[in-house]
Amino acid sequence: MRDQGPRIFPEGFYWGAATASYQVEGGIENCDWAEAAREGKVPPCGIACDHYNRYEKDFDIAKELGHNCHRISVEWARIEPEEGKFDEREIGHYLAVLAALRARHIKPFITMWHFTLPQWFVEKGGFENPEAPKIFARYCGYVAQKLGNDCRHFSTMNEPLVFASNGWRRGTWPPFKAWPLMEHALQAVPGARPFVEKRTALRNVFLYFKIAKNLARAHNAAYDAIKAAAFGAEVGVVHQVILFHANWNPLNKLFAALLNWHWTHQFIKRIVRKTDSIGVNYYLHKKFGDTRAYEKTDMGWDVYPEGLCGALLMLKRYQKPLWVSEAGVADAHDAIRADYITRLVHAMHMAIEKGADVRGFMYWSLLDNYEWAQGFEKRFGLVEIDYTTLERNVRPSAYVYKEIIERNGLVE
Ligand code: BGC
Repeated sequence: MRDQGPRIFPEGFYWGAATASYQVEGGIENCDWAEAAREGKVPPCGIACDHYNRYEKDFDIAKELGHNCHRISVEWARIEPEEGKFDEREIGHYLAVLAALRARHIKPFITMWHFTLPQWFVEKGGFENPEAPKIFARYCGYVAQKLGNDCRHFSTMNEPLVFASNGWRRGTWPPFKAWPLMEHALQAVPGARPFVEKRTALRNVFLYFKIAKNLARAHNAAYDAIKAAAFGAEVGVVHQVILFHANWNPLNKLFAALLNWHWTHQFIKRIVRKTDSIGVNYYLHKKFGDTRAYEKTDMGWDVYPEGLCGALLMLKRYQKPLWVSEAGVADAHDAIRADYITRLVHAMHMAIEKGADVRGFMYWSLLDNYEWAQGFEKRFGLVEIDYTTLERNVRPSAYVYKEIIERNGLVE
């Protein structure tokens, strides 16, 4: 139950939404996900929302909805289609995207890499390759040098642990490597797809931990490269916090603490000296010993936006500015989204009251988009996409969010 009273945010608070290149742009054929789709392992992405050509119109909508910031990612496979060969035309495209945001007074936040990898990089072993941090940092440095005058907020990577976990533990995303017995364990997980091919091996347990470590090294190298190329830019990382918590039972509390340590603190500790801020994505919680029956989102996830408060407070100890770089709900009928957003905002305000230095909130997502192994069926957008006509329709909940933005908080 929410307590009453106005919840007003600090002046200059950023409000907006997030997208990611592969999920909205369309026409990206030279990355690992496109290859996996050609092999029939994941749904094809095709032209997605055709945001690559329609970004001006999409940003008009964001502007109309009162957004003053927007998170995008740039596509590595577009910018560096061959190892060491950079495509100036694609840089030109992203410069035009940034200019379109600037013209609408929307502050850009760029993520350098959001899950999809150039095929040449994967063929060299991807993040299993000990050279990967160097290769990734070179790409990030190049982008920062080209876009650094037009954008001051960069994140190196999106959700490294989710990437490692789905690729090398659950085996549901490229490169589809799974731990032994995972097939069985996944049957109980809502939204997880069954394996498209069996590549379970004990070695993948070792690889998962290796990848997690290599990603931290890659972030640290990229941080230095971006800082050197774009003087004064803010450079961070985007981490999905899964909030593990527990009832009174000490054993449950121990489980929760161990999982929080591995999933969040171990990674953040590896990179904390080389990050100016932390982007927090929040969707999931797991409460050990919980008997409550939660309402479910279209992803089959618990409706528990209140967990955003705990997720933010978990990172308070690192004393870095925090951004809610993603939080949102798959809700095709827009039945719960307005309430979900209101409750997220409330939870975020509570975290600020408890000392978390939160600077902004970006709803996931501006548009319906390609939800990875789930394809286009799941609808996270403030804006509905008709995938046959590519028509955009603003959902009613987007206007509830707009009101929150206009009031810079909740007025109850
Ligand atoms: C990712 C997005 C994804 C969203 C909803 C986050 O893990 O960054 O790419 O669409 O969650 O599942």
